[in-house]
Amino acid sequence: MKVSIIGGAGRVGSTAAYTLVNLGLVDEIYLLDIAKERAAGEALDITHSLSGMNSDVVVEGGDDYAGIRGSDVVMITAGVPRKPGMSRLDLRHRNVGIIREVVRKVVAECRDALLFVVSNPVDVLTYYAWRESGLDEERVFGLGTLLDTLRLKSMLKKRLGVGYEEEAYIFGEHGDSMLPVFRLRGNHPREELMRVFDEVREGAARVIETKGATWFAPAVAIARVIEAVQQGGVLPVSTFIREHRLYLGHLAKISRSGVRRAEFELTEEEARLFQHSAEVVRRAIEDV
Ligand code: APR
Repeated sequence: MKVSIIGGAGRVGSTAAYTLVNLGLVDEIYLLDIAKERAAGEALDITHSLSGMNSDVVVEGGDDYAGIRGSDVVMITAGVPRKPGMSRLDLRHRNVGIIREVVRKVVAECRDALLFVVSNPVDVLTYYAWRESGLDEERVFGLGTLLDTLRLKSMLKKRLGVGYEEEAYIFGEHGDSMLPVFRLRGNHPREELMRVFDEVREGAARVIETKGATWFAPAVAIARVIEAVQQGGVLPVSTFIREHRLYLGHLAKISRSGVRRAEFELTEEEARLFQHSAEVVRRAIEDV
C-alpha cells in the first residue's frame, strides 16, 4: 500500500509516517510539503531507521505532486495548527484556502486514492475537500473523533480501569461540541464517566499549552485508519452524514473502497447533541 502525506514535513505528518513504518502497515510513503528540504530530511531520517526495523518500505519526500501517483490513500496534514487559547474552528479561514489548493493538485495527479483529511477544523475541511475534489462522498473522509475516542479510552482505563475492549466513543464535531457515547458493560457512575470525558475534551488544549502541539496520539489514530483501509474495520471517523450533507464523527465502515456511515442507535439525548454538532459544523462551513 502506498500512502502520500501532504504536509508530511510537519509534526503530525512525519510522526504518522514513522508510525506507519514502525507498525509495518505500508510499502511506500511520499512526504509532500512546501517545506521540501524538510520533507526530504524527514524521509531520509525514517529511511535510516529501516534496517533496525527490518523493513524495506520506500520513503521519499519533496514538493513534487508527481510523487503521489499510484497512492492508495492521500492524507492531508497541511495547514496551520492552533496556538494556545485557539479553538480548532478559529483555523478555518486559513486552512480552507490551503485545503482547496492542495486538493486541486492532488486530484490532478491521482484520482483513484482515498482522500483522508487530518488538518483542522477537520469536519469543515473534509467537507471542502469533498466539494473541491468532485469525488464520491465515500472516497473522502476525515480523522474526526477517532482521535478523541482513543484519548477517551486511554483515560477511561487510566482513571477508572475500564478495559480498552469496552464500547466507548466520541461522536460529532472534532471540537467543542463533541459528544460521548458510552455502552459499557461494567457499572460506572455517569458523573465519573463525564469527568473523564470533560478531561478528554480539554485534553488536546492541555497538550498544546504544555508542549506546543499534539502529534503522538494523532499519529497512532492515523495508523489505525490506514490499517482499517487495508483490512476493513469500523471506527468513529468524520464520515458523510446524508441527512445533513456534511461530514461528522460517527462510526463508519472503512475499507479500500471507501468510508460509509455504519448503523448505530443513539439515545434521544445523544441524537440531540449530534444534531447540535451538525449545526455547529454547518455554521462554520457557511461562515468561511
Ligand atoms: N502545501 C503543502 N504543505 C503545506 C502547505 C501547502 N499549501 N501549507 C502548509 N504546509 C505544511 C507546512 O510546511 C508544515 O510542514 O504543513 C505542515 C504542517 O505542519 P505543522 O506546522 O508541524 O503542523 P502539525 O502540528 O503537524 O499540524 C498539522 O494537523 O492535527 C492537525 O490541527 C492540526 O491542522 C493541523 C495539522
